[in-house]
Amino acid sequence: MSVTFTAPQFSTARRAPARAEVVAHGITTDRLAGDEPLPPGLDRADLGRLGFEAKAGQVQVVPVEGRLVAAVGLGGADDLSTDGLRRAAAALARAVRSRRSLATDLASVVAGADGPVESDGVAAVVEGLTLALYRFGYQSTGSRKGGADRLARVSLVGSTAAGVRASVERAEAVAAGVVLARDLVNEPGGSLTPPKFANRVRRMARERGLTVKVMDEAAIRRARLGGLLGVNRGSTQPPRFVELTYTPKGRPKGTLALVGKGLTFDAGGLSIKSGQGMMDMKMDMGGAAAVVGAMSALPDVAPRCRVRAYLPMTDNMLGGDATRPGDVLTIRNGKTIEVLNTDAEGRLVLADALSLASEAKPDAVVDLATLTGACMVALGPKIGGLMGRGDGFLEQVERASSNTGERVWRLPLPGDYRSMVDSPVADMKNIGGAYGGAITAGLILGEFVPDGLDWAHLDIAGPAFADADDAEVVRGGTGFGVRLLVDLAASFTA
Ligand code: BES
Ligand code: MN
Ligand code: ZN
Repeated sequence: MSVTFTAPQFSTARRAPARAEVVAHGITTDRLAGDEPLPPGLDRADLGRLGFEAKAGQVQVVPVEGRLVAAVGLGGADDLSTDGLRRAAAALARAVRSRRSLATDLASVVAGADGPVESDGVAAVVEGLTLALYRFGYQSTGSRKGGADRLARVSLVGSTAAGVRASVERAEAVAAGVVLARDLVNEPGGSLTPPKFANRVRRMARERGLTVKVMDEAAIRRARLGGLLGVNRGSTQPPRFVELTYTPKGRPKGTLALVGKGLTFDAGGLSIKSGQGMMDMKMDMGGAAAVVGAMSALPDVAPRCRVRAYLPMTDNMLGGDATRPGDVLTIRNGKTIEVLNTDAEGRLVLADALSLASEAKPDAVVDLATLTGACMVALGPKIGGLMGRGDGFLEQVERASSNTGERVWRLPLPGDYRSMVDSPVADMKNIGGAYGGAITAGLILGEFVPDGLDWAHLDIAGPAFADADDAEVVRGGTGFGVRLLVDLAASFTA
């Protein structure tokens, strides 16, 4: 059994409860430089001696009358953003945890008791505190089990207005979605097989009141998902294809389709990866995990559009009957693909999923996929690649990205690059040339979305997995995309 992470419970309060073991105050450099008194327990001269300058992310914890008071640096007041607050909350969480025993009770003063608390700011604090404390592991010993490492309750001190409480609840649901996505990504490929992945999604759907349909191998064959079957051919694990639907109360304002790459492990197939290249490939279902996490939050966020999710699940192995380089696969929409590199498998399963998603005639489609190393070369480990068609819709995706701090950057899909995937024996081959690998992958996906349908493709090969802790990100699966997708659904206009 892996260590299960339990998120803190958040509440709003007018003042810090007496039982709180830690009381945290955000301090801007402006406030530290001024001469208004600091919050009780904090003293300018003392903080100065301890080296506290209120720099963003700096945290100083001082004992005051039997409890701890934390000064949390916020940097300059003019530069303060929701990203900065999320980062500061994450730093606070880590600082509190680094004390020998983690307090179970924390009061975080988000604003002066009389000042209005911006809902976005409160949400960022909930996300930062929860996500930075996230843990996953199979350690048999240590303090990670049980309560010693657990922040149980957080009081957000400031406004208790209904709107603020609603945004705290919404942020808790979104953070729980990110935690679910991380747990799924972190689960090793040998234990999260496609059937187990599908079962876990089914359980979540029932708990959250979403509609769920799971196709087994026979149903996948009847649906002629030739890409998914071709990738699955080298595996002893059967594939799955899961569809989820969120239906809003009242008349739906359009339909958004979400597609997620669900490779529970990518060995590369017969075009086998190196040992090093395979090490983190349990994360190759990070797109599907992000979609599942976002779907789990929707009932609490209650967007007014319908949202349908399409999740192809398989691993990419090298069994005796694995797809051979040179094989030609027929995708759901009838188009054919010559497989010249079995490690370019994501586009094959996404081709089927995008075809199915498009057949249901949604108003827009987004796919998320840990698709190419080339996208990591282009944008580095923390920024996703954004491609697609329909500028208005792509702008909605960019807005959701900047609202949530999950960074993406536009790459083009130039029509004259399409010839790079021409095949002498099929409608296309599954690889391009030596350069522009993120783009040629995007162009192949575009063959399975009809012209005129708004479509965004997010290549999250970089940001889906982290090598080190960084702000609210914890080493391992990041849950990248959950926040962006929820924000997109909440504001989607067809
Ligand atoms: N899942 C990988 C992409 C990947 C690589 C994700 C590194 C995260 C980190 C994908 O299936 C793959 O193997 N892509 C190949 C495509 C190539 C063979 C055209 C790649 O990027 O090398
Ligand atoms: Mn691959
Ligand atoms: Zn892959």
